[in-house]
Amino acid sequence: MKIMVTGGAGFIGSNVVDGLIEAGHEVVVVDNLYTGKRSNVNPQATFYEMDVRSPQISELIEEEKPEILNHHAAQMSVPDSVSDPLFDADVNIKGLLNLLEAGRKHGVRKVIFISSGGAIYGEADEYPTSEAYPPKPLSPYAVSKYASEHYLEYYRHQYGLDYTTLRYANVYGPRQAPHGEAGVVAIFMNNLLQKKKSTLNHFAEDEAGMVRDYCYVKDVVKANLAALEKGSGDFFNIGTGIGTKTLDLYQIIFEAFQEQIPAMPQELKTPGRQLARPGDLRRSCLVVEKAGLILNWKPETTLKEGIRKTLDWRSRQV
Ligand SMILES: NC(=O)c1ccc[n+]([C@@H]2O[C@H](COP(=O)([O-])OP(=O)(O)OC[C@H]3O[C@@H](n4cnc5c(N)ncnc54)[C@H](O)[C@@H]3O)[C@@H](O)[C@H]2O)c1
Repeated sequence: MKIMVTGGAGFIGSNVVDGLIEAGHEVVVVDNLYTGKRSNVNPQATFYEMDVRSPQISELIEEEKPEILNHHAAQMSVPDSVSDPLFDADVNIKGLLNLLEAGRKHGVRKVIFISSGGAIYGEADEYPTSEAYPPKPLSPYAVSKYASEHYLEYYRHQYGLDYTTLRYANVYGPRQAPHGEAGVVAIFMNNLLQKKKSTLNHFAEDEAGMVRDYCYVKDVVKANLAALEKGSGDFFNIGTGIGTKTLDLYQIIFEAFQEQIPAMPQELKTPGRQLARPGDLRRSCLVVEKAGLILNWKPETTLKEGIRKTLDWRSRQV
């Protein structure tokens, strides 16, 4: 099948491209390299350096005729969305609409849209949070992701353009850059490799930090493969159902380092502290049973395994 992946030069998108190519699909990547890297793009994919807001998107879709549009490109930083909500909406909403307009005119069958289960539910009363919980977004980024989900429903209703929305938890793994929603794994690893002290963000009432659901990127790739044929007109949490405090995450990463580098300075065992940033949530963790039932998907990698694999990859980069 021919699939266009936007954001395919970024962390998650490039892993998805690799997974699609490995499964025998033909892949076209669209990315403006805002945060992504050309070197992340699988050499077997056709690459277009293009902005998803560009008027040329329509011509490109008409010419390439992808059956599926997998939309990973986004302004994906919560703090940046707070400081510049107009830019967030421009990329995340206008970019999506530009693709949907082109897609419905030029025969795209289905859109796989990447939303954020880590952001859109807000400070949910139901914890861990299932898809039945009505989202209460608390940052411009979360608002733009949730609004996008409504646009998809509209395009399905109006034009019969199918979709599946994947609401990711905090994704980590190879190629993650130290920025964005779950950049914390990459940030901690970078600091430890450089033997620098890390800083843990927390709310005043709990110095062990926020709770997040960390999902390994290779598991996320499998959810994208499942969504090619399943989950029509529906949305799914993609995570692990396990919440981890930032301090516990740091300790798991530190232990993985100690196994690889026994002479790790002990003073790095304890990170420094700093108060949470605007838009940050106290806790988020996703119930993922619906993806199990309908997509036949479940997370397979434990946090410890995923961290070890990420560190193996990271160590080979320096
Ligand atoms: N990282 C996470 O934990 C997480 C969690 C939930 C949802 N998501 C979503 O997953 C997707 C991928 O995130 P990521 O972590 O891989 O981030 P990333 O920054 O590595 O990837 C985003 C990619 O989109 C590209 N891009 C940005 N603006 C663009 C534009 N206007 N036109 C074309 N390309 C553009 C970037 O260059 C980059 O390659 C995003 O939609 C993000 O919101 C990520």
